[in-house]
Amino acid sequence: MTDLNHLFISLLLLVLVSLTLCSSATAHQNEQDTPITRFQRYLRIKTAHPTPDYTSAINFLTQQAQSIPNLQIKTLSFSSSPHHIKPLLLLTLPGSNPSLPSILFNSHIDSVPAEPDKWIHDPFAATLTPEGKIYARGAQDDKCIGMQYLESLRNIQKDPNFKMPIRTIHVSYVPDEEIGGFDGMMKFVESKEFKDLNIGFMLDEGQTSINDEFRVFYADRAPWNLVIKAKGNPGHGSKLFDNSAMENLMKSVELMTKFREYQFDLVKDGLKMTSEVISVNPVYLKAGTPSPTGFVMNMQPSEAEAGFDVRLPPTADSDMLKRRITEEWAPAIRNMTYEITHKGPLRDYTGRPLVTPTNSSNPWWSVFEQAVIAAGGKLAKPEILASTTDAKYLRQIGIPTFGFSPMKNTPILLHDHNEYLEVSVYLEGIKIYESIMKGLSSFEGDTS
Ligand SMILES: *[C@@H]1O[C@H](CO)[C@@H](O)[C@H](O)[C@H]1NC(C)=O
Ligand SMILES: *[C@@H]1O[C@H](CO)[C@@H](O)[C@H](O)[C@H]1NC(C)=O
Ligand SMILES: [Zn+2]
Repeated sequence: MTDLNHLFISLLLLVLVSLTLCSSATAHQNEQDTPITRFQRYLRIKTAHPTPDYTSAINFLTQQAQSIPNLQIKTLSFSSSPHHIKPLLLLTLPGSNPSLPSILFNSHIDSVPAEPDKWIHDPFAATLTPEGKIYARGAQDDKCIGMQYLESLRNIQKDPNFKMPIRTIHVSYVPDEEIGGFDGMMKFVESKEFKDLNIGFMLDEGQTSINDEFRVFYADRAPWNLVIKAKGNPGHGSKLFDNSAMENLMKSVELMTKFREYQFDLVKDGLKMTSEVISVNPVYLKAGTPSPTGFVMNMQPSEAEAGFDVRLPPTADSDMLKRRITEEWAPAIRNMTYEITHKGPLRDYTGRPLVTPTNSSNPWWSVFEQAVIAAGGKLAKPEILASTTDAKYLRQIGIPTFGFSPMKNTPILLHDHNEYLEVSVYLEGIKIYESIMKGLSSFEGDTS
């Protein structure tokens, strides 16, 4: 090759490179299609209760999935009411060995409502601030992970060294998690479609951490709604007599307050984490004889009741708590009755506590942990989640499940005003999922 030829080729290359750079910059400006704009678009779809727009969300997610190679796309619905469309989207990247149990990455589409006038930015505008924060309902809980799964599926297949996964990867977008999951994950896990997926392990939503370590949750606390009721003889407001409904109810409230204090002290003294104790919080009191201006003041009512939000860690002795309720908090001997509404299971189908082990008895644990470390992440000591998620339905049928949302150095703002996520945290989460998806799907070890 002569020097002149060489120069010519170099110039040509230079021109070509600049042309490519220019055109990609223009395309970028016109389409505004980046991981961040895609996240914003998902956040702007109003999927908050009480009227979540599931249809728009599913359409958007489907369109995204269609732009990613090799994904199979399926929409299912388990709604009990024909008037409410509650679709569930299932994406599948088939593995080369379908006989091995598959992996499921789950997120819920819905979110809790937001009060726009209490936010510094419109909760449905997904405003990106100059400091790099995206404000939106769902930014942390949990539209972030829903979009990160997609970005990760897109990115891992772009890698020149990409090989099709060995285990099949499924990604699900379920409705109604925030209202109990009864028309969502609860029915999905009971369906034939679910059984056919042969799921061996699931990752579901977790929570932010305020330090440098990612949090991971191996169990949820089970919620009970407890209502105690007292009945007694009514009487004149001036009369002193024993066993009025109010007196009996207040005795119970005192005992329950003591129990609450004892549990809370364990937390305050650093002996247990909040999620490891039984919490009993009063949520309503109902008593009195109504009058046009409020309540009749010279009358002691014949009925009184109180409601409590009770949360039990999976290892709590629920029989003992029941005994305490029947003997101390609502004893028949004080003319009291009670009702417990179980808002979630405590044990799996074999009678074991709903706990996913984080030791050598669970082979998925170390694969997951190694994948997070390989991506430069650190895991905090595994915890019980103080609240509850759809993960319980998977644990109940014996599928190991961790709660995990890769958000570190981020204040906990789920269900709060001004929920936001930093762009840098969001983007790092995509890298973490790429490592996790690769790690889990190439794991060939025994998981039985
Ligand atoms: C139970 O209620 C009945 C009538 O409603 C009353 O006569 C009795 O004193 C009550 N007993 C107790 C222990 O509260
Ligand atoms: C692993 O953890 C589970 C649940 O926390 C426990 O029941 C089991 O004994 C542990 N197994 C080993 C091998 O440490
Ligand atoms: Zn959530």
